[in-house]
Amino acid sequence: MNILLFGKNGQLGRELQRVLPSVGEMIALGRSDLELFDLASLRARIRSVKPDIIVNAAAYTWVDRAESEPERAMEINAVAPGVMAQEAKRIGALLVHYSTDYVFDGKKSTPYLEEDEPSPINVYGQSKLKGEKAVQESGASCYIFRSSWIYGIHGQNFLLTLIRLAMEKPEIRVVSDQIGAPTWARTIAHATQKILQSGKMNPENSGIYHLSAGGQASWYRFAQHIVSILTMRLDCPLARVVPIPASQYPSAAVRPANSLLSSDKLERVFGIRQPHWEADLETCMQLWFEEHVETRKPEDSDRGTKS
Ligand SMILES: NC(=O)c1ccc[n+]([C@@H]2O[C@H](COP(=O)([O-])OP(=O)(O)OC[C@H]3O[C@@H](n4cnc5c(N)ncnc54)[C@H](OP(=O)(O)O)[C@@H]3O)[C@@H](O)[C@H]2O)c1
Repeated sequence: MNILLFGKNGQLGRELQRVLPSVGEMIALGRSDLELFDLASLRARIRSVKPDIIVNAAAYTWVDRAESEPERAMEINAVAPGVMAQEAKRIGALLVHYSTDYVFDGKKSTPYLEEDEPSPINVYGQSKLKGEKAVQESGASCYIFRSSWIYGIHGQNFLLTLIRLAMEKPEIRVVSDQIGAPTWARTIAHATQKILQSGKMNPENSGIYHLSAGGQASWYRFAQHIVSILTMRLDCPLARVVPIPASQYPSAAVRPANSLLSSDKLERVFGIRQPHWEADLETCMQLWFEEHVETRKPEDSDRGTKS
């Protein structure tokens, strides 16, 4: 089994690089290997590698910036995945693609199901929805996994921003009237690995799946939990977390009030149950502590200060 992975340096891409070699021989590409605006090179690379599975973890994920550069968001989130899907169809490969809760407007009061009608309220969501459609319309065998509020110990995400701000500021104001499920990139990668190894990837099962952590939280609740874990582990003053309505946090892109995705279909078809977000956050932060706090030996703090 040959796998071609795009977006190897992203939050999810890094985690996929860890687990996909157990599924097959993998070639992993980042932006410096292949620029996705260059569609001719994209086609040529897929044709030369001739993978059995294409996994696309690359995306334009700047939600606010997308409002002012919609063409760039569309190129990466819609046009490039469409080309990957056309090429997958041409060579009979399977395409695994990722999408987002932001394809919905957030007006529903319960978790979104795969059959709910998307209606994105920002450019990023529109570009991701176009990407889903381009992939589906290609006729390739494809799996589209929609997730939400992705974090990890690398890259740019809410968890790492909160850790930094909690140590720098006396107070952090966080939106409390938008809910979703914070989802660890590693959990998505593990689910992808299990699905690819399940032997259940037949044409009847292909399509869209929601894949996000169990439970629900507001950004405020997510922040509170991060700071409470930090408080238990660090002996230093940390910021107070203050809830605010989204109306007091102006941003270029509007975000849905309800980002909850039901992962029931994933469990029904593949028998994969997603862990609760709190349990995953605790495990992920343990890794962060191991990498950033506990590995520092006492003599490290003296280094450079001794004469
Ligand atoms: N982040 C979230 O909260 C979230 C929520 C729901 C769904 N998703 C979806 O989940 C998937 C993975 O997201 P993520 O958080 O892992 O994203 P990420 O960390 O932003 O990584 C995206 C990767 O795409 C690459 N990329 C961007 N533009 C490119 C271009 N023009 N050519 C080649 N590569 C390019 C980036 O390369 P560079 O490193 O060089 O920039 C980066 O490595 C995406 O489909 C995203 O839409 C994300």
